[in-house]
This record gives sequence, C-alpha cells and structure tokens, in this order.
Amino acid sequence: MTSPARPAAVVILAAGEGTRMKSDTPKVLHELCGRSLVGHVMAAAGRLDPAHLVVVVGFQRERVGAHAVEQNPRAVTAVQDQQLGTGHAVRCALAELPALDGPVVVLNGDTPLLTTETLQALVSGHLEAGNAATVLTASVPDPTGLGRIVRDPEGRVRRIVEHRDATAEERTIAEINSGMYVFDGKHLAAMLDRLTTDNDQGQEYLTDVLGLLVEDGHPVAAMVAPDYRETLGCNDRVELAGLRALLRDRLVTVAMRAGATVVDPASVWFDVDVRLGRDVVVHPNVQLRGATVIEDRAEVGPDTTLIDTRVGEGASVVRAHAVQAEIGPDATVGPYAYLRPGSVLARKAKVGTYVETKNATIGEGSKVPHLTYVGDATIGEQSNIGASSVFVNYDGVKKYHTTIGSHARTGSDTMFIAPVTVGDGAYTAAGSVITEDVPAGAMAVARSRQRNIDGWVERRRPGTPAAEAAATARRVASGEGTVEESNPPAATEIPGAGSDH
Ligand code: UD1
Ligand code: CA
Repeated sequence: MTSPARPAAVVILAAGEGTRMKSDTPKVLHELCGRSLVGHVMAAAGRLDPAHLVVVVGFQRERVGAHAVEQNPRAVTAVQDQQLGTGHAVRCALAELPALDGPVVVLNGDTPLLTTETLQALVSGHLEAGNAATVLTASVPDPTGLGRIVRDPEGRVRRIVEHRDATAEERTIAEINSGMYVFDGKHLAAMLDRLTTDNDQGQEYLTDVLGLLVEDGHPVAAMVAPDYRETLGCNDRVELAGLRALLRDRLVTVAMRAGATVVDPASVWFDVDVRLGRDVVVHPNVQLRGATVIEDRAEVGPDTTLIDTRVGEGASVVRAHAVQAEIGPDATVGPYAYLRPGSVLARKAKVGTYVETKNATIGEGSKVPHLTYVGDATIGEQSNIGASSVFVNYDGVKKYHTTIGSHARTGSDTMFIAPVTVGDGAYTAAGSVITEDVPAGAMAVARSRQRNIDGWVERRRPGTPAAEAAATARRVASGEGTVEESNPPAATEIPGAGSDH
C-alpha cells in the first residue's frame, strides 16, 4: 500500500537558539524566498510522505512549534527541555512516537537547500543496501567546525568525529557529515540508549550512533550529496544571505528553463511558490513574492514588487507595487502605480502613473491613467477616469462604494463622494464634486461658476511683477502703448477679496 521508500518518520532538529543570528527570533524561523529555514526543510521532507513528521523544539518552543504545525498540519512537536545534544534530541522525538519499524530520517532544521530528490535517493539507497544507517556527506570548501567522516582503508564508513574532538590528522579529512541521515528505526532506538557524553562538549552525539552500529557489525554507509550546497546550514545572517542568493539562483533558473526571460537574474527575487509562464519577460529589480503568478507573454519590471498577485497573459507591469491584485490579460500598470488588495483589472484595463487602487474592479478596456485614488469602486467597461480624481470612500468612520458605468468619461479632478453611482455613458465636468448619482448619458457639473474680478491685481498687488505685467497687457489691449502714468481701472470692491492669497 505504501511505497517502500516511505519513511516511518522524519525527525527535524530545531531546538537550538542559533546564538550567532543575534536575534530575538529563533534561527529556524528566519526567512528566505518566502519560507522559514525550517519550513524549507519541512517542505522537502513532507514530500517523502513520512508516516510521522516530528520537529524537536526547545528555544521559544511555543513559537517554533506553532510555526511547524502551520507549515504542515501533520507535524507533531517534541520538546527537548535542555540542549543535551543531537542524540538526546532524537531520543526526545522518538519518545513521542510508537516503536518505529522502517527508515527514520533525521535532518537539521537550518538546511534550506536540501531537495526532496536527494532525500529520496538517500532513503532508497539506504533500503536497497539494507543499511542500519546511511549518512549524507559532502566535501565543502571550508569544513571547519563540522563532523568528519572517518573511513577505513577499504573506504567503509567507521565513525564520525566532531571537529572539536578530532585529531590534527582527522581534521584534514575533506568529507563532512551533513547532519542528515537515515536510520533503521529499531537500530536507532537501541543505539540512542547506549550514547555517552564522553566528548569535548559533554553532550549525547547522534553521530556516535554510527560508530556504535559499526562496532556491532551492522552495515553503515555514506551517500555523497550530488551538490554540496544542499547540505549547507545557516549559522549567522551572512550565511543566511548566501543561502538566499543560492536559492534565488535555483528558482530563477527553473523559470528560465521553463521559457521565461530574466534580464538580470542577480537583481530578481522569487519566492518558492511563484509561477512564471512562457515568454514572460522579467526586467531588473523585480521581486515576486508569495503565490504570485505571471502568465504567458506578460512583462514585469523594472523596479516592481508583486505580492500574491496574478498577472494575465500579455499584460505589462512597470515600476509598480501590487499586493493581492489581479491584473487581467493585456492590461497595463504603471509606471509608478500601487495596487492594493482587491484590485482587479479586467482585460486591457489600464492603471497608469501615480495611481493607487484598493478593492476596486476596473472593467475591460477602462483606463485610470494619471494621479488618481480608486478605493472601493466598480468601474464598467471602456470608461475613462480623468486625471487627478479621488474616489472619496471614507467618511472618517465607514467606507462606501462608488459605481461607474461603462463608456463613462469623467473629467479631471472629479471627487466621487461615495456612495455614488455614475451611469453608463455619463460625463462629469472637470473639477466636479459628485455627491449625487449621475444618470446614464448625463453631464454632471458640480462646481461653482467662475467669476473674474477685473483689475484686482493692479489694485491689490501694486508694484509686483504681476501688477506690472497686468498694466502692460491692459495698455496693449487698449492701444495706449507704454505710457507711464495711466490710471489703474476703477475699483470694484469685492468683500473678502483683499485677503485672497
Ligand atoms: C552537527 C553534527 C556534525 C555535523 C553538523 C552539520 C553532531 C554531534 N554533530 O554538528 O557532525 O557536521 O551538525 O551541520 O550531531 N539540536 C537540538 N538539540 C540539541 C543539539 C542540537 O535540537 O541538543 C539541533 C540544533 O538546533 C541544530 C541541529 O540540531 O538544528 C544541529 O545542532 P548543532 O549544535 O548545530 O550541531 P553541530 O555542532 O553543527
Ligand atoms: Ca550547526
């Protein structure tokens, strides 16, 4: 019923604080490419479909435990009160489980580049060889601090020695212990009971299980990782940044192999769940986060961040920031646009420059080209919203909705005081404050009529360049030429006009 490579359990060690991160957040919760360190390990391990998935927690156990269950509801946590060593941590895990018959995988919680494929190869190699234990090893550029694999002259694994316990000669061994293993469940449980603390740190080392198995004549082997980078752990934020860049390279490579053009891979950041179609073009300085999807032939960037956003086929998004937005096929966004949650652009819709939208549906072919806020609104098809308009959705207490029909033409600087409806084919005059519904086909004018106060500048701002320009213009108009001492026009006093500024 279950595939033979299905582990009886996967145990992920995540009890440590990660002191060198210098953080209030436990190390394994630090993020790269949209997932925590331990989340990456859990995702790779979860795809093996283990019967049990156990995360050993200690430092900030409630927080790490809750996070683990959020990542995979099937996960259980085992508490290790004190960090008495990796062997002790695995013992704490097994204490939470029934007796295990079959392969038990043990992983560190801070190795985010580990792949399911490598884990699968480790488990199936282990089962095919009938090993009691198989350790994943690698040769890394700098093995300092890591456990070394001690082999006999025939090349058989004898034991693992920790760097701090190793002799000078043992420290020259290039093959390191990745801290990832698969054990036979019964042998593991038996040997954990035999661990001692006879080492430099006075801890129970999981690594000693391999030596004990060898002593008892059980088959123990190593599998060299296909790419040593999969075994890299994270100790500080410099290493975290390095791992993030490697993961980014991997994700961008997958997108390019699937037919996306990425102009400058080093300036682009993708989260693990991002999907790109064929002939997508990603320009420099683009961040695609969360569950963002870019469909075929769409073009994104430069300088764009999209979070949980869908970009339809052939759409173009330039210098924009979008969160939980849906950008329809052949729609255009930006440059300089901010699409907030619930922004839905239909086919060929346009959200242009210095435009912010929120909870707004913009119908097929409709345009919001310049300097506008569209909040809580529905706009029909083929309508045009004039520059510098505001959908005034908030009265300080509640939010209200504005509805604009299809083929409407609203003037520049229109204020739509919600709740309000503008009918199909209706117009609004520039500068209007729309407080009442506009029937289909009507022109709404909602602004005060202009009046000009003749001669005001010469009377009220005498001696200014404006007054001189006004005088000159008056003389030219009246055919007087530039005679110096002509009189300013007669005063028509307007109450309050003198305080204008
Ligand atoms: C361990 C291995 C070492 C290997 C290295 C790879 C041992 C004794 N050594 O060393 O051979 O090269 O990993 O990274 O196993 N943890 C607990 N509880 C504990 C101790 C550790 O949960 O009591 C967790 C840590 O949080 C961490 C992982 O186990 O996620 C590894 O522990 P760490 O102390 O980093 O072991 P290393 O000294 O790096
Ligand atoms: Ca470590």
